[in-house]
Amino acid sequence: MTCISIDGKTEIYGIVGNPVDHSFSPKMQTLAFQAIGENTVYLPFPTEEKQLPRLLEAFRLIGVRGFNVTVPFKEKIVPFLDRLSREAEILGSVNTVVGTDEGWKGYSTDGSGFVRSLSEAGVSLAGKSVVLVGAGGGARSIALSLASSGVGELHILNRTLSKAEKIAGMAFKVNSGLSVSTVLEPQKRYDILINSTSVGMHDRKSPVPDSLIDVSAMVVDIIYNPPQTLLLQKAVQKGIPCNNGLDMLLYQGVEAFEIWTGKKAPVETMKTSLLDSIESLG
Ligand code: ATR
Repeated sequence: MTCISIDGKTEIYGIVGNPVDHSFSPKMQTLAFQAIGENTVYLPFPTEEKQLPRLLEAFRLIGVRGFNVTVPFKEKIVPFLDRLSREAEILGSVNTVVGTDEGWKGYSTDGSGFVRSLSEAGVSLAGKSVVLVGAGGGARSIALSLASSGVGELHILNRTLSKAEKIAGMAFKVNSGLSVSTVLEPQKRYDILINSTSVGMHDRKSPVPDSLIDVSAMVVDIIYNPPQTLLLQKAVQKGIPCNNGLDMLLYQGVEAFEIWTGKKAPVETMKTSLLDSIESLG
């Protein structure tokens, strides 16, 4: 059994969203804080949009040090913050907030967590050609971080073309040396294929045709439940190296933890906690 130390000096972090009752973060982050000897807990704070300013006021009052933000408030929280990191400003979206002397500062660690999950797995992005499928909030964060990480080509494919074009424009603005497009070139091979859509989460469908999987050297699905989507199953069957979204989930949390504490996160503790949480879903 894990023992949590808690007393009159315990500090509080948390997660703001709606719903938050299925979040893996309270357990993962509390165990992480305790693993490095911090007298801290991390709690769920479900709320309504109209209560966001009052919630921040309450956080100030009770001394909440920092928090994560999840759906549906990643963009809606922005007007109530005092400062933003460069990434959060470009995205207009925040998933991590820290209390500073100058007020609340917002960060976005989804994209940086994704890129770090690849680099920790030994995947170098420099000069690589990447296909990113989907153009929602997750894709925007990933595209921004990929553009800042030296990838050579970024192809963004989406059911709604205008959304892919917007993200492509943002990626090019961040890195004008990047070759961006919203189509694929015939006969070409790609280094990394990334699915950022929800296709495969609730159904046994693949977001891309087999012909695209066949020309990809690596496949990453940001879905972590189920652990092996149909896309990843196909990649495995074809002998293509692949990764699911667990490490992105892990490293967005690792990066948030490191922003809050300024210390190296206990990555193994956090990963074990996530795996336990997923296993307990059955
Ligand atoms: P998130 O913020 O988690 O990335 P989102 O903003 O809802 O989620 O984005 C979901 C992405 O998956 C979108 O790119 C969406 O395509 P549209 O922009 O055309 O809506 C894509 N998506 C969802 N369901 C899809 C489906 N059945 N087929 C193809 N794309 C789908």
